[in-house]
Amino acid sequence: MSKSLIEKIGTLKRKINAIILAHNYQRPEVQDIADYTGDSLELSRKAAETGADVIVFCGVHFMAETAKILSPEKTVLLPDENAGCPMADMITAEQLAQEKKKYPGVQVVCYVNSSAAVKADSDICCTSANAVKVVQAMDADRPVLFIPDQYLGLFAMRSSGTKMHFWPGYCPTHMKIGVDDIARQKKRYPDAKIVVHPECRPDVIDAADEALSTGGIIRYARAYKKKTLIVGTETGILHRLGKENPAVEYVPVTERSLCPNMKRITLEKVLWAMEELKPKIEIPENIRQKALLAVERMLAL
Ligand code: 13P
Ligand code: SF4
Repeated sequence: MSKSLIEKIGTLKRKINAIILAHNYQRPEVQDIADYTGDSLELSRKAAETGADVIVFCGVHFMAETAKILSPEKTVLLPDENAGCPMADMITAEQLAQEKKKYPGVQVVCYVNSSAAVKADSDICCTSANAVKVVQAMDADRPVLFIPDQYLGLFAMRSSGTKMHFWPGYCPTHMKIGVDDIARQKKRYPDAKIVVHPECRPDVIDAADEALSTGGIIRYARAYKKKTLIVGTETGILHRLGKENPAVEYVPVTERSLCPNMKRITLEKVLWAMEELKPKIEIPENIRQKALLAVERMLAL
């Protein structure tokens, strides 16, 4: 990677007082220039507490939007405005409003992988790191609707015992991870443990040793003592894992689990975004304020 490109990013970052946040699925070179790399929950906490004027969010749209919900006075840049999350697009605010009518008194738990407008009409947000805790905190006497990820919802229901209704959304990247892939890797590496993301299908989660958020997978690998760890999530995480605990060999359950949207962010686009201060995330203030309530309830837990 061009050294001068990295130097330019560093110089401009200081000039405009920016912080670069990167999700664990980002390209290796983007992770390497970030001030902080983490999972959705860790990145939203960083966005809320930073003293920088500009947040350059290397991730997908809903993540940058969450940063803007929390820090409206800051400029939040998403270096490629087309970096979306297909799962977040699987439910609209209008669809949610219709669905809520089916369950009088419903409490909506909204996975952070959703638009600001959908968050605004939800009671509380969650991420994959805290979904079980959030669901456990719901009022047991009222119905709970979990949106948009049916598989994370099912995982949270099974782990917490809280009965819920689901929206039939899913992550196309994690759908590509199958039990047959797990069986094949288990055969090749019989001593290895298998850790997967809770966006995976239930049969995949059942076949694994652990289901954890990307941040949880990083912590698990830090303390891991065996030779090989089999990892079932977006393959961008392998770079971070290798940096955190290089003594372990990390093997993906399948190479197919790649999120094309996460890979849209490149170093060039990071530089251009800082030079031009765009693409900027903007949210109508009435929606932002309502969405903030759902995000703050989650962060308070
Ligand atoms: P994490 O919150 O675990 O980083 O997951 C975000 C995501 O989009 C997973 O596909
Ligand atoms: Fe969305 Fe799946 Fe990509 Fe995560 S991996 S950003 S849930 S499409």
